[in-house]
Amino acid sequence: MKAKTADRWCGALLVLGIMRLVDSLPASDVDIWKDEEDERTDTLLEFNATGVGATMDFKRMPRVLNFFPVPFVEECRAKDGRRRGICMNTYECRIEGGKSSGFCALGFGVCCIFTASCNGRIVNNLTYFVNPDYPDLTRGMSSCSLSIKKTNPEISQIRLDFIHFNLGQPNRSTGVCERDVFLMTAPNATKEIKLCGINSGQHVYFDVENLDQNVEITMTLSKKAVTRFWEVIVTQIPFTQRAPPGCLQYHEGDRGLIQTMNFADNGRHLAEQDYTICVRQELNMCSIIYEPCHENAFRIAPNSEIDDIDLDVEPSLEDGEGSGEIDFEEAARALELCNDKIVLPCDSEELIMPEMLGINPGSCSLTHCGSTLCPSGNSPCRIESSVTPFTIGVHFGPSRIESSPEDNLGMCLTYEQLPCVN
Ligand SMILES: *[C@@H]1O[C@H](CO)[C@@H](O)[C@H](O)[C@H]1NC(C)=O
Ligand SMILES: *[C@@H]1O[C@H](CO)[C@@H](O)[C@H](O)[C@H]1NC(C)=O
Ligand SMILES: *[C@@H]1O[C@H](CO)[C@@H](O)[C@H](O)[C@H]1NC(C)=O
Ligand SMILES: *[C@@H]1O[C@H](CO)[C@@H](O)[C@H](O)[C@H]1NC(C)=O
Repeated sequence: MKAKTADRWCGALLVLGIMRLVDSLPASDVDIWKDEEDERTDTLLEFNATGVGATMDFKRMPRVLNFFPVPFVEECRAKDGRRRGICMNTYECRIEGGKSSGFCALGFGVCCIFTASCNGRIVNNLTYFVNPDYPDLTRGMSSCSLSIKKTNPEISQIRLDFIHFNLGQPNRSTGVCERDVFLMTAPNATKEIKLCGINSGQHVYFDVENLDQNVEITMTLSKKAVTRFWEVIVTQIPFTQRAPPGCLQYHEGDRGLIQTMNFADNGRHLAEQDYTICVRQELNMCSIIYEPCHENAFRIAPNSEIDDIDLDVEPSLEDGEGSGEIDFEEAARALELCNDKIVLPCDSEELIMPEMLGINPGSCSLTHCGSTLCPSGNSPCRIESSVTPFTIGVHFGPSRIESSPEDNLGMCLTYEQLPCVN
């Protein structure tokens, strides 16, 4: 895809080149392209076929881009090399409310950067949503809203990339976003996204298929003197590039990092979260290994009213490890105790066992809560699964009991995909 657009740019250059040379060279003289690839000649012919060249006005060269038979969008980097923009001509960029930052397309276009802030409206792909005082912190504001309009009806999802996301923390003992709330909704949408705290580096997908009204982001902010700072890339995802339905997050690559929301120093996992994290199965990869980021990277108190359960105790089984009878009643009861839980698919249904019973250490447990991802004593803690698609369920209910933030930091995992063996 990228190579193709690059070729088109080259095509554009070639065509311009020809036009410039039009007085001195016969149009049929293609000798100068002799050492170029065939495809470029194709582009040339295709362009020739539109007959645009004949009506070209050299004094308005940037507008040449408007004459391309296919509307083409090429991403570019801003002058500072940091932000991403869309390559277009100066005129278009100004009309669409962007800001040009440096050149692109071999100098024929400008890199157009779109930004929006509170009470703004997004009508373009690839727009940066920032706090009003960005790049400084914003203090003492009480609300902020943003409307996102689909750039075309075929858009399937809106993706938000939180480069920076620093809002007020949730209630420390319940995890509920009370003072600061970031809410993403749309009329008739199946789900809404509700966040607060620190989520820099995270991303989310919001499904907008079959929705024709705008997506709204509403931030309700407590007036207390909290400083806030955010920079969010809003991308419009066409059907062909969408994340699998139902995935709030979609990680790509052989290895990566997965965190629950508001996983941070002095953070606490949020209440009322119910979503799936997906990992794209990469080419020739058949299984995946999850490992906690560090010793304290798994802290999810069960959020259960029954408080006499010590999750770290490994009950002894009468018949010895891995053999014989399993107390299903006890297992089921134990499962229910994890009101807040992480769910990893298991390779085999027989192995679906709550970790806290300590049955079959090292085998897959379906639900996880407590202070360790693996059955206690398993070190290093690594969980492997070949169930595809690769998914992790995050289910944090409403707060039933108050419990300490230290026991509720949430989860940070690294993952690595393993090649198929055969
Ligand atoms: C390209 O333009 C030239 C000159 O106008 C013409 O002779 C030729 O047939 C055109 N080629 C195509 C594929 O239309
Ligand atoms: C946190 O939530 C609890 C239970 O709803 C409430 O009693 C407490 O006042 C809240 N804490 C703060 C700081 O708002
Ligand atoms: C969408 O929601 C509106 C109210 O919010 C409702 O009137 C309408 O029937 C809904 N449309 C569909 C297709 O569900
Ligand atoms: C929006 O931008 C992203 C990133 O460049 C791109 O992958 C996507 O195809 C674009 N969406 C549309 C509708 O062009």
